[in-house]
Amino acid sequence: MARHLVTSALPYINGIKHLGNMVGSMLPADVYSRYLRQQGHEVLYICATDEHGTPAELAAKAAGLTVADFCARAHEAQRAVYDGFALSFDHFGRSSSQQNVEITQHFARKLHENGFIEERAIRQVFSPADDRFLPDRYIEGTCPHCGYDRARGDQCENCTRVLDPTDLIDPRSAISNSTELEVRETKHLFLLQSKLQHEVEAWIDEVADEWPQLASSIARKWLTEGLHDRAITRDLDWGVPVPADTWPDLAAEGKVFYVWFDAPIEYIGATKEWADAAGDGQVRDWKSWWYGPDGADNVRYTEFMAKDNVPFHTVMFPATELGVREPWKKVDYVKAFNWLTYYGGKFSTSQQRGIFTDQALELLPADYWRYFLIANAPESDDSAFTWEHFAATVNKDLADTLGNFVNRVLSFSRKRFGDHVPAGKERGAAEAKLGAEIAGLLADYEGHLEALQFRKAAQSLRALWSAGNSYLEEKAPWLEMKTDQEAAATTLRTAMNLIHLYAVISEPFIPVSAAAMRTAFSLEADTATWVTAEQARALDAVPGGTAFTVPPVLFAKVSEEDLESYLTRFGGES
Ligand code: MF3
Ligand code: ZN
Repeated sequence: MARHLVTSALPYINGIKHLGNMVGSMLPADVYSRYLRQQGHEVLYICATDEHGTPAELAAKAAGLTVADFCARAHEAQRAVYDGFALSFDHFGRSSSQQNVEITQHFARKLHENGFIEERAIRQVFSPADDRFLPDRYIEGTCPHCGYDRARGDQCENCTRVLDPTDLIDPRSAISNSTELEVRETKHLFLLQSKLQHEVEAWIDEVADEWPQLASSIARKWLTEGLHDRAITRDLDWGVPVPADTWPDLAAEGKVFYVWFDAPIEYIGATKEWADAAGDGQVRDWKSWWYGPDGADNVRYTEFMAKDNVPFHTVMFPATELGVREPWKKVDYVKAFNWLTYYGGKFSTSQQRGIFTDQALELLPADYWRYFLIANAPESDDSAFTWEHFAATVNKDLADTLGNFVNRVLSFSRKRFGDHVPAGKERGAAEAKLGAEIAGLLADYEGHLEALQFRKAAQSLRALWSAGNSYLEEKAPWLEMKTDQEAAATTLRTAMNLIHLYAVISEPFIPVSAAAMRTAFSLEADTATWVTAEQARALDAVPGGTAFTVPPVLFAKVSEEDLESYLTRFGGES
């Protein structure tokens, strides 16, 4: 059994995320973590809110709160939604934690000792209209690479290239739209990434061949453009302070680290938060997940993120880790996603288009969303959310194929044989064929999950559910009842074993419904431990005589009226 460290890109603090954010990071990380845990691996799934930077300051101001208060509330609001989505974080931390402050400052000191940080006086954009220095992302303009006219000073959202504010054509303040921008001189810390270019390249050559093309190609493109030295401090009140022992002048001026410097370090910070939160008698060794050739070499680290995050995770953060000259764990596998669109257009937080995660949960239970989103994850290309597709998927896959099978088998058996699984007789050729088919499909499903191919995994899962329906149609226990009750009992016992198997293997996708299916059977010491090929073939985890209950309907269909009301409320056009 292996140790698996899993992280999903840290959701930014300034608001509830939409479904596009969910499917591109946290949800697939959760599915993968659940699968690995069921396999018996030691898993640590870490996430946190990314709390520093200007957007947090501005959102706090708009809400009439201090930044600290705003972030504390916004963190809890996000946590509630992720609980609602049944995300199984081992720890959901905060990048503003003391742990992250300490580790970030440690990284900065080490980078300095090793000659990778330099103090430079720079001329920075100052906006008299706003009476402040403008952080990079608060300068907007036209991207010099692709011509997108709302590129930000740190990155172009359209072509994903990382930018410097001075690259922008026709720059303006994103706060006031003022174009009367001045340049004033001030001192900042620079991370000399250019000195680390070759090391990052060598590392990428070592690890990235195994990654999905989306991640490795973005990393390589970025390296080809060359690693530039970057300012890693900002003039803000909220952030990880520049440590006074190393840079007294800058600390006195109140400079803080740039949010993208401390955010990925929070993967480590949050792991320490997790360890520090251990109860009495519990020992949690956070460092063994992250540090030391012996400690962390046996850890496999997988990161999940949308494609705009790839440069920071595959080049900039690894450069930081390399420059620290201490054996910190670097990512082994980067799973990157394209965009989920809303009817072909952008999901947009600022323009309120699409569906937010809290709204989604008000409409329907988490499992409906989890299944649809993962089955349509934007893996090889962008994929579109439409209400029509969503309703059709829920109705066909969840309500008809899975839910109806479960309720039909259990209700019928109870009606004819009572509250215990009927024993029936020896199984025959149909069951042997079913067992072989299930074992084969299960192997496909496992292969896709191991390879983090979520859409394909969903297809295999659906095929497993369908196999049960075909078996039931073929055996038709309602007809067998008329001629051979024992034969009908055998069919039902087999079908109930399929239900139990579905409960176990569907758990990563639909954990709430899976638990309801599994606990329908009163088995002693029952757990969601994964099934072996032998067990799948044998289909005998639930023996005759086991007491069971019929759970309430697992999945309700989305009716025509529901669909109409969703379309009216959210709009169906992009
Ligand atoms: N908050 C960033 C975003 O929403 C992601 C940060 S990931 C981290 O795009 F690793 F840097 F924390
Ligand atoms: Zn661009």
